Amino acid sequence: MSVLETLARKIKKDHFVGSIYALFDFLTAFPPKDFLDREKIKLFWKVRSYTMVGFKRVNNVYELSRFIERIKLTGAFVECGVWRGGCAAVMACVANGSGSNRKTWLFDSFEGLPEPSEIDGNQAKRFASNRSSGKLESINECVASLQDVERLLFSELGIRTENVIIQKGWFQDVLPQFRNKIGPIALLRLDGDWYESTKCCLENLYENVVPGGFVIIDDYGHWQGCKTAVDQFLHEKKIVVRLQEIDYTGRFFQKPGPLFHEPAAP
Ligand SMILES: C[S@@+](CC[C@H](N)C(=O)[O-])C[C@H]1O[C@@H](n2cnc3c(N)ncnc32)[C@H](O)[C@@H]1O
Repeated sequence: MSVLETLARKIKKDHFVGSIYALFDFLTAFPPKDFLDREKIKLFWKVRSYTMVGFKRVNNVYELSRFIERIKLTGAFVECGVWRGGCAAVMACVANGSGSNRKTWLFDSFEGLPEPSEIDGNQAKRFASNRSSGKLESINECVASLQDVERLLFSELGIRTENVIIQKGWFQDVLPQFRNKIGPIALLRLDGDWYESTKCCLENLYENVVPGGFVIIDDYGHWQGCKTAVDQFLHEKKIVVRLQEIDYTGRFFQKPGPLFHEPAAP
């Protein structure tokens, strides 16, 4: 990760500086052809201060959600690691606008990140003020409230409440109870940063992803533990996929199977 990217991540946590950064990011990253797409501009502008994710990753989740709606692929949209809900809102808004009645499931502790483990490496340990025991206790980083997410989705974007389920709790406690309720998944977006968080999501939810569905991993290039969890999972399950690069950290792949479609360019 470059110095500029580290700086960008830090300043985006400050709301005032973050807004200026978001405006700059927005104006410089938005492709000129998309300036004709008023709905997209409006949506991206509204979510800009509700996500830590830069333009390319927001655009990736937008394009994949639209593609899934276009080809009418069965299954829910799911995000694990929601923070203030920016990326989640993009998925839910696309589903809402398509009239498909697709469900969007959102999972987060809403207490911030838990402790990383040794396998997450020194960068994560430093970020967690020298903690690396893997305890499910907040390190007070990436803390947001469920109400922030509700405000964005329901008040600001007017998304219908009946198709969105927001579940508070640690993935490790919640996902085993919810995997059957969620059913088939068309788009699984993983943004939990650490090894154990990523591993837990893959172990509980990958089987639900339908053939031709997509898995997005936000932290593959940024956090060492996330990459290890994904690589180990794919290796152990003998899953052969083409991990496609979104930006320096984001990756996505399409689950192999009979319904294979070439993805829309993110
Ligand atoms: C980087 S933020 C997510 C960013 C968000 N997707 C966005 O659009 O900006 C990581 C989130 O993962 C959540 N998280 C990480 N590990 C978790 C776990 N094991 N259980 C529940 N939530 C977890 C944190 O609470 C935090 O909100």
